[in-house]
Amino acid sequence: MKLDSTGYIIGFAAVVCLVASVFVSGSAVALKDKQDENKLLDQQKKVLTVSGLITDENQSGSNDDEVSDLTPEVVRGFFADGKVSPQLVPMPGFDGNCDALDVNTYDVRKAAKDPALSYEPGENEAKVSSVANCSLVYNVTTPEGERVIVPIRGPGLWSTLRGYLAVDKADGNTVKGLIFYEHAETPGLGGEVDNSRWRGLWAGRKVYDGDTVSLAVKKGQAGTAAEDPYSVDGLSGATLTSNGVTKAISFWLGPQGFGPFMQSVR
Ligand SMILES: Cc1cc2nc3c(=O)[nH]c(=O)nc-3n(C[C@H](O)[C@H](O)[C@H](O)COP(=O)(O)O)c2cc1C
Repeated sequence: MKLDSTGYIIGFAAVVCLVASVFVSGSAVALKDKQDENKLLDQQKKVLTVSGLITDENQSGSNDDEVSDLTPEVVRGFFADGKVSPQLVPMPGFDGNCDALDVNTYDVRKAAKDPALSYEPGENEAKVSSVANCSLVYNVTTPEGERVIVPIRGPGLWSTLRGYLAVDKADGNTVKGLIFYEHAETPGLGGEVDNSRWRGLWAGRKVYDGDTVSLAVKKGQAGTAAEDPYSVDGLSGATLTSNGVTKAISFWLGPQGFGPFMQSVR
């Protein structure tokens, strides 16, 4: 066969594509466990950060205090020694209990996709189409007090925002922090949900006014936590992402989400 014939060129390209695709899919399969492990580790770091047990700098290992070497062992240590304890909560649309489940191996994300382990919550602004019967919160002991870390998810412009809201367990109402561990919003616009200055605005705000979730990201600037406890500054040029954060909090802290559980905390 001539090396410059059409058949040879197409055949050669097909073989290169085949070899490359086998290599890429092989690596994806081989590295899946490692990727899942790293994803879990990142989520655990976010729980520690939003609780105030480590700082943003600790996450990248650039601080030189006691947890500067934030190895997987150090992170897991917080969970193993009971400073962070996960708890399974039966959600409002489920009338069973979660006692038989192993909190350490339970995969809430998988459960939410399984019709046998989840339910449809009905119309809601956060566009949540499925809620796991049993969902996971974290109880955290910090030197400043007890926190409950509630998972939230809601619609951004391009993606579903997934994160955690830390609430003071002393009153079940005062926010201690907000963090997102997954989203695909535009860097510099919706991606500013990760900006530590903006995240710093959340501490001290209140979730509930009576029994109603009143905390919201407003368009424009909010006052201080003391004078404007139910509002947080909007992200400029990113009203859709800002609204998604509000919707996520309203749903997950409200009656269709962890509202009844939070009422028991209060
Ligand atoms: C390329 C591009 C990326 C954008 N990314 C976001 C985003 O991540 N989040 C968001 O809310 N709005 C984003 N917007 C802007 C929205 O389309 C919309 O204009 C904006 O949310 C309105 O916010 P504003 O009222 O604060 O201007 C983007 C717009 C463009 C053109």
